[in-house]
Amino acid sequence: MSTLQDCWPEPVVRVQSLSESGLSAIPTRYIKPPSERPSLNSGGDANIPLIDLGSLLNNLDDKTTLKQVSEACREWGFFQIVNHGVSPKLMHRTREVWRQFFHLPLEQKQVYANSPKTYEGYGSRLGVEKGAILDWGDYYFLHYLPLVLKDQNKWPALPDSLREVTQEYGDELVRLCKNLMKILSVNLGLGEENLQNAFGKEGIGACVRVNYYPKCPQPDLTLGLSSHSDPGGLTLLLADDRVPGLQVRRGGNWVTVKPFPNAFIVNIGDQIQVLSNAMYKSVEHRVIANAVQERLSLAFFYNPKSDLLIQPEKELVTSDRPALYPAMTFNEYRLYIRTKGPRGKAQVESLKSPR
Ligand code: OGA
Ligand code: NI
Repeated sequence: MSTLQDCWPEPVVRVQSLSESGLSAIPTRYIKPPSERPSLNSGGDANIPLIDLGSLLNNLDDKTTLKQVSEACREWGFFQIVNHGVSPKLMHRTREVWRQFFHLPLEQKQVYANSPKTYEGYGSRLGVEKGAILDWGDYYFLHYLPLVLKDQNKWPALPDSLREVTQEYGDELVRLCKNLMKILSVNLGLGEENLQNAFGKEGIGACVRVNYYPKCPQPDLTLGLSSHSDPGGLTLLLADDRVPGLQVRRGGNWVTVKPFPNAFIVNIGDQIQVLSNAMYKSVEHRVIANAVQERLSLAFFYNPKSDLLIQPEKELVTSDRPALYPAMTFNEYRLYIRTKGPRGKAQVESLKSPR
């Protein structure tokens, strides 16, 4: 298996430092080609579906809510959930403790500077291609599961409560993901445990990327995060309820998500697209930059065990609908985004066997 190098191809510049230096024009390496700039195509007033999960979490037979989730998965690949069982107070504490981390002096964050080898730590780019056009954002990436990869020494030691709060948040989100996996599995016509078992009975992965998008003097020329689909299984995003920025592709348009207070934004990743034989699609999304406010989001990625072969579930492969994807491990799969950076849906599309 090929692996990634230890170093970035160019010196790392923190976008936050650029932003705080007060420049009025962004450096050329952040300027996107006109076709990728954000002003084109707006989705108008559309919003992704909002689903109250309360009764379904108590009773997996709640047909009405099952149907809402099923439609959202088929038609949008994205939805927001409320009454998901995670305490709003914990959500708020987690977001604020990470905001405090990004507001620490630069030297204290640099201790955790990441490398392309594992991506763990404080980072400012995705992909290792020299001369690539970069995104207007910094991030912190950490492993939560499997336990062999979880190393709290690689999580920030400051602010004091960060490790404890992040641990508690992770426990709650793993629980919620397990419930969502059952719901999706039943909706696909599979047994309650099938999807989870396909991810691995043990050794499944979970990681967190905290995204920090500083203010940008020229938001029309760049993106906070370029268009991509999430390579993993399922993503739970805690967005900033005050500052919009996430856009979801809907046909030829980009729909701006209006975060609902205390909701999580759920989206299907590439591994569920493969397992469901494209009944569910991982949908492209991106983040626009903002001239007046910073924005912080926490993406929690729930992933298959990394060395397990992922392929369309047998029950979803028929003579009318043959397997659309070959088997591949998540370890192999995620090398693509880690090497090339965010590239829309190019990766999962390239897997499709020509017929
Ligand atoms: C991601 C992502 C969206 C956001 O981290 O994969 O899509 O709003 N984040 O920050
Ligand atoms: Ni994403």
